[in-house]
Amino acid sequence: MSDRRLIVALDVHSMESVQQLVGQLGDRVNYYKVGMELFYSAGSQVINYLRQQNKDIFLDLKLHDIPNTVGQGLATLTQLGATMLNVHASGGFSMMQAAVKAVKNKASALQMPRPKLIAVTVLTSMDENEWSGLGYNVDLSQQVIHLSQLAQKAGMDGVVASPQEAAQIQKVCGSEFIIVTPGIRPSGTAIDDQSRIATPAGALKNGAHHLVIGRPITAAANPKQAVKDILREMRDLG
Ligand code: C5P
Repeated sequence: MSDRRLIVALDVHSMESVQQLVGQLGDRVNYYKVGMELFYSAGSQVINYLRQQNKDIFLDLKLHDIPNTVGQGLATLTQLGATMLNVHASGGFSMMQAAVKAVKNKASALQMPRPKLIAVTVLTSMDENEWSGLGYNVDLSQQVIHLSQLAQKAGMDGVVASPQEAAQIQKVCGSEFIIVTPGIRPSGTAIDDQSRIATPAGALKNGAHHLVIGRPITAAANPKQAVKDILREMRDLG
């Protein structure tokens, strides 16, 4: 049985690998994330393929530019029919407002469901050391909360954040505000380049609505078994 809380990151760069993985995981996974690596190489072909397979799609292109450019870019992406799109919250309040408006207008003009729009707070690969190198005069976790509140004020549907910050975000933004957490590592799997991590159960307990999981599934010796184990851990939690 599938679980829409699980989003599998398709961090591969050919249609062939996509078809192989999606075919292998079958009905167990109904929500996929398409990021830069895949979209830059396969483009809308991959979105069309996933839609034909009746999969939900999180198109994770993390837009970050001036408000007009982001708005125009998102209006174009809206036509593809993804379930969820995103921008960087650090692009600012006006940029996020322009993003919300553009997606809403385009979806209503095309009479299609409006994709959810979420904001990346601070990348989950960023640790305290890397953060201090950026020169901001604020704690990393404080900044995540601040950006979440700013995103909510701008009309965004939710945020991408680390599972370690999810509980605090839910506290200040409420339980309707979508929290998507990458940086998920089932115990015993490699950390790779992630820093602020949690197990699937830990992230859900902290209030995450969706778990984005890539390498622990895609690089597993048996991806199908990896999904099965993760789904069991999620289900056991209720
Ligand atoms: O392989 P792994 O499980 O680390 O994959 C995590 C996915 O989530 C990657 O596709 C990465 O781009 C994405 N992501 C992230 N941190 C964010 C936003 C997205 O790791 N803040």
